[in-house]
Amino acid sequence: MEDERTLATVTHPSGLPDDWSKEDEEMIVEEHPPEAADNSHDSPPQGESLLEPEQHNLKEEVTSQLKSLQLEARVKEKESIANDLIEEIEELDEEEDKKRHLNVVFIGHVDAGKSTIGGQILFLSGQVDDRTIQKYEREAKDKSRESCNNIKPELNHQIVGADWYMAYIMDTNEEERIKGITVEVGRAHFETESTRFTILDAPGHKSYVPNMISGASQADIGVLVISARKGEFETGFEKGGQTREHVLLAKTLGVVKLIVVVNKMDDSTVKWSKERFDEIESKIVPFLRSSGYNVKKDVQFLPISGLMGSNMKTRLDKSICDWWDGPCLFEVFNSIEVPPRDPNGPLRMPIIDKYKDMGVVVMGKVESGGIHEGDSLLVMPNKANVKVLAIFCDENKVKRAGPGENIRVRLSGVEEEDILSGFVLTSVANPVGAVNEFKAQLQILELLDNAIFTAGYKAVLHIHAVVEECEIVELIEEIDTRKKKETDARKKRSKHKPLFVKNGAVVVCRIQVNNLICIEKFSDFAQLGRFTLRTEGKTVAVGKVVELPPAGNATFV
Ligand code: GTP
Ligand code: MG
Repeated sequence: MEDERTLATVTHPSGLPDDWSKEDEEMIVEEHPPEAADNSHDSPPQGESLLEPEQHNLKEEVTSQLKSLQLEARVKEKESIANDLIEEIEELDEEEDKKRHLNVVFIGHVDAGKSTIGGQILFLSGQVDDRTIQKYEREAKDKSRESCNNIKPELNHQIVGADWYMAYIMDTNEEERIKGITVEVGRAHFETESTRFTILDAPGHKSYVPNMISGASQADIGVLVISARKGEFETGFEKGGQTREHVLLAKTLGVVKLIVVVNKMDDSTVKWSKERFDEIESKIVPFLRSSGYNVKKDVQFLPISGLMGSNMKTRLDKSICDWWDGPCLFEVFNSIEVPPRDPNGPLRMPIIDKYKDMGVVVMGKVESGGIHEGDSLLVMPNKANVKVLAIFCDENKVKRAGPGENIRVRLSGVEEEDILSGFVLTSVANPVGAVNEFKAQLQILELLDNAIFTAGYKAVLHIHAVVEECEIVELIEEIDTRKKKETDARKKRSKHKPLFVKNGAVVVCRIQVNNLICIEKFSDFAQLGRFTLRTEGKTVAVGKVVELPPAGNATFV
């Protein structure tokens, strides 16, 4: 012990307090000198001192000075730790801000290869290791044997084969793997040098279009996957195929840019043929135009093989395909631009899903504004006051999230059963309104059995994460889209309220729902103001909200 004390004194010859743990030890030396300990039998009664009063005062003064120095140093030390932490957080924030975030939805006809491409992207970006791939390969082989022995006629598509292993990365549940069909929207994350991506792998099968709508409503850009395999492009693109339906829905749901990947270029019926690629491009382009896409500005085509991973992370090898000089998929991902989002707008986060986990956790995409840990917010339309306990972005806990982020938020102050998907997390100061009716401009696409569209028509309304039964209660006016040259919008409109309209019509109407829904005017807030109407599994109309009841009212009267 004495050695240590000596050492402690020696290491600070100047007496400067550069190591306070050792300074403590020096103080012990002063207060309990070894001699005092040795002559303990001569010690005065407890509480009395052997020192002269002057020495005693001096000692007290030195001790108190040392203590205050010590205190000062500790405060300084803590200050400096806090400053370091603040700097670190700022650096991390800067890092975060440097990388933009994009939500990409994969859409297209069933079996086009969406999940395979999603899986390949994760593999190429190092999210999945070789061993997992080998495991999936074995599993896919086993399943292909099973499915050969047990062909399910209701599937009405190819038998699950050994080459499905790449899709297993995205298709994680057993039903999806056995059937070889995506059902739920798969979610995954990956990064390139400039961008963090959330992948949303939508199902292509027509039975699951509502799930596709939910996936597309969270996306900024879309990857339209088209199979180049003989016969597959044709089936997917014909009337009733999901290529057309998905494109229309994506456009309506606010997917502003499309990357069209012509997939399966390695297939034996394609063999990287330029003619096949050109044929597909020439047929898709007019359709994209008629769906409202500006092909020159907002659409890019490229050939790939999702299964082989060709033209994805690196450019095509000339030995595989000698005519393609364009970029690979990752290059397009890095260079694609999306319109700026408003981080200072009022908070709007439609809730897509919820579950219990140390409180209630809600999932969704922030459409505008920001959200911070500790924020007091409102869940609409049920006006529940909640507090943000934690925010998770991908798998990471974060202090805040801005527009465009797909996040999970842990809330207090509300029960899980009081939240439904389609509810909106909003700021208290500027909450989203809740209504039972609204006026909309609708474009009728295709009515079932050429039905007519009149007041009383019922359908299912899909608007952001809301899915609600609705009824058209009034047709207000039909807009004549053929009078395009007419500059005065009023002249395009007929004077009388129409009694009915047919396929292809554009009509302004009033729509009612039974439950309160949180929506916005399209011109104020596009993401919460565009919708689709579906009935019996088919999309019959797309539309935008043009008028809401006066503030504070749920209906117009
Ligand atoms: P759904 O989710 O059900 O709409 O299908 P999907 O678009 O996700 O298709 P998926 O990735 O499940 O692939 C369907 C089949 O196409 C599987 O057998 C894949 O192995 C095969 N496939 C996908 N991409 C390619 C490719 O680039 N080349 C070849 N030859 N086959 C491919
Ligand atoms: Mg899939």
